[in-house]
Amino acid sequence: MKTILTYGTFDLLHIGHVNMLERLKELGNKLIVGVSTDEFNLLKGKQCIYGYAERAKIVGALRCVDLVIPENDWAQKAVDIKEHDVDVFGIGADWEGKFDELQALCEVIYLPRTPSISTTDLKKVLSQIDSAAIQKIKQGLDGVLDIVKALE
Ligand code: CTP
Repeated sequence: MKTILTYGTFDLLHIGHVNMLERLKELGNKLIVGVSTDEFNLLKGKQCIYGYAERAKIVGALRCVDLVIPENDWAQKAVDIKEHDVDVFGIGADWEGKFDELQALCEVIYLPRTPSISTTDLKKVLSQIDSAAIQKIKQGLDGVLDIVKALE
């Protein structure tokens, strides 16, 4: 039995998240995912679209995920590794070197991220769609105003 542990926010679940979790599951038999709580995200300066309960339920619904636990603070990793008898701690390469001290407790690996996608990018795209729609409505209204003016 080989247990893998990872952590993340997993807001607006996307293909980069699924690729990462599937690759991690391939490394063992049981994949545990620590999903950051809303309070912890605030500490990290992250504001989510979905709350913790929804993000945890979505991640837990993936076939490759065996257990979801809340991630409440930076210090809990060592405790979780011992409590769940974790063999491998894995996370994306954006965290390269940041968790090397956990090597005293288990294997630590940093996996390459899926290129060209992140929750931050998705949020930007969504906000641009919004402003594009507003721009379109404005153009429509300006057109109506022009017609009204021409009739005066
Ligand atoms: N991840 C990945 N490939 C991506 C995006 C994320 O492999 N394109 C991985 C991260 O490296 C991390 C996990 O997915 O191990 C959860 O990352 P999270 O921070 O929730 O996702 P991001 O999309 O990077 O979110 P943000 O833009 O808010 O940082």
